[in-house]
Amino acid sequence: MIEIERDGGVQRIRLNRPDKKNALTGEMYAALAEALERPGDGVRAHLLSGVPGAFTAGNDIGDFLAMAEGGMQDTPVVRFLRALAYCETPIVAAVDGLAIGIGTTLLFHCDMVIASRRSVFRTPFLDLGLVPEAGASLLAPRTMGHARAFELLCLGEPFDAARAQAAGFVNHIVAEGELEARALAAASAIAAKPAEAMRVSRALLWGDRAELRRRMEEEIRLFSERLTSEEAKAAFTAFMARSRKGS
Ligand code: COA
Repeated sequence: MIEIERDGGVQRIRLNRPDKKNALTGEMYAALAEALERPGDGVRAHLLSGVPGAFTAGNDIGDFLAMAEGGMQDTPVVRFLRALAYCETPIVAAVDGLAIGIGTTLLFHCDMVIASRRSVFRTPFLDLGLVPEAGASLLAPRTMGHARAFELLCLGEPFDAARAQAAGFVNHIVAEGELEARALAAASAIAAKPAEAMRVSRALLWGDRAELRRRMEEEIRLFSERLTSEEAKAAFTAFMARSRKGS
């Protein structure tokens, strides 16, 4: 469900669970974390992509139910979040279609985001009784200002590709058919730069990430609490029941 390939200095990481719109399971988070933590010799950029029409529909909601029982600390999702916040290699994302929940919030950790025209970014955390994660409560207002971040993170309003670009978290909007090539070209261009100069420059742009890491841990603590709330359990159960009815 996570496919990893090398293309020169680029590590291509593809989310591939099309029947579930690329909803992310614990196994997938563990593979993603592993790829970011131990990229292998000569990897100078990561390229993260999904399947046609679905970057990812976010965390698997069935897994949320399991986490509500067993707790969130030491889960693969937390490992993945930390891997993102500590990643020292540039990350490019190629988004086509759905980018929901963590599918949007992980983009704030990317150095470049290329999106197809039909992409939709949405974070329905509050509708699920949850709070934003992945450091988004800090990074989103920094990127787009409080007012727009509030609409995205607290109201769960969908942002189309044009709005995401105007908000500052999408670099380029391209036709679906051009997405792979454009995103690979961007990652390859990063990989071709002098590696050490890139590493130091990127670290300067990110600045001190201690505050981000603290905020992320705070979000994890609150998110864990919210997972066991009645609001969250009711929302997960409703989604799972809807899903079963449809099948
Ligand atoms: N977790 C678990 N399963 C999911 C999922 C998720 N986050 N997102 C989609 N799926 C599953 C659906 O249950 C369905 O499974 P089924 O075929 O066994 O019934 C399958 O993927 C296809 O999804 P479906 O809802 O039929 O497609 P759609 O095009 O009508 O809607 C979404 C797509 C993404 C809008 C809708 O599935 C959705 O709202 N998903 C939940 C998104 C979410 O809240 N994520 C968590 C964010 S914090």
